[in-house]
Amino acid sequence: MSLHMLLGAEAATALLTRWPDSPFTLDLPDTSPIGRAINTQTIRGFLDAGCAPSGYVNVFYKGEGLHPARFTADDRVAPASVPLLLDQGCTIQLRELNRWHPPLSAICAGIQAETGCPGYVTAFITPPATQGLDYHWDQYLGIVVQLEGSKTWELFRPKVDAPHRDHGMSTNLWQDDWVHQWQQAGPDMTVELTAGRVLVLPRGWVHNPHARNATEASVHLTFVLKERSPLWVAERLIASAINDPRFRAIITPADLAAERLPETVKDVRALMLDYLDHLDVDELARALRHATEKETSHATL
Ligand SMILES: [Fe+2]
Repeated sequence: MSLHMLLGAEAATALLTRWPDSPFTLDLPDTSPIGRAINTQTIRGFLDAGCAPSGYVNVFYKGEGLHPARFTADDRVAPASVPLLLDQGCTIQLRELNRWHPPLSAICAGIQAETGCPGYVTAFITPPATQGLDYHWDQYLGIVVQLEGSKTWELFRPKVDAPHRDHGMSTNLWQDDWVHQWQQAGPDMTVELTAGRVLVLPRGWVHNPHARNATEASVHLTFVLKERSPLWVAERLIASAINDPRFRAIITPADLAAERLPETVKDVRALMLDYLDHLDVDELARALRHATEKETSHATL
């Protein structure tokens, strides 16, 4: 039911039926509990009360991150630094709020049960007439919920096909002339996201979000859905091989020698093919189904 809270019943069902490959916007449903579970006051409350763990807070100024020593004390964001940072035009990001705010934990767990996609939710506060993060793309689907104020999202078609995990990350592939190209060509879509509106942003779409045109602070949540992939299933298939004693045998130093290693690889490949051929698919499918709903470890996403 959690996707319904963000998208409404019709759009949630549509998303589950056909995963989107282009951005779109819609209204946050009137019945959504999001505003009660979390709102601008809740988010500011974490910061102002000194409850925000410093490891989960980033601060950006014109696309660059600030060193945490600027705003932390005793493993928490120092409350006195918050209004100063915002007055100076910094964007404050509260990462993975679901790990420290139980209502959002429940919503993320619900989304995972529904979609099989683990994820998290992050909040951003951006002062008026400023910009926090700039051009980049993400490796997963984002559902952006504007809580207060407005934000402009300049959107550009993906540069890379199917970015996933650390493959095809914008930070790794970045070319400085891309920004010039995007600025010359202009966005493929521009979304003015106002309070109560929702943007669904598929993985890979380049975005340049800013509040440069805004006259009041922008506060939004981004729910991240990390899609499963054939690679994830393949890893699970291979990981299950530990139950077969043949895969726990010792490969001797002699078989790791450079001249012998191609034969060793061939032997293990033959073992894998035999193992996969005789695998109990139904048993593994049950284990995978459990993992899609419950497994949240970032190490395996
Ligand atoms: Fe992003």
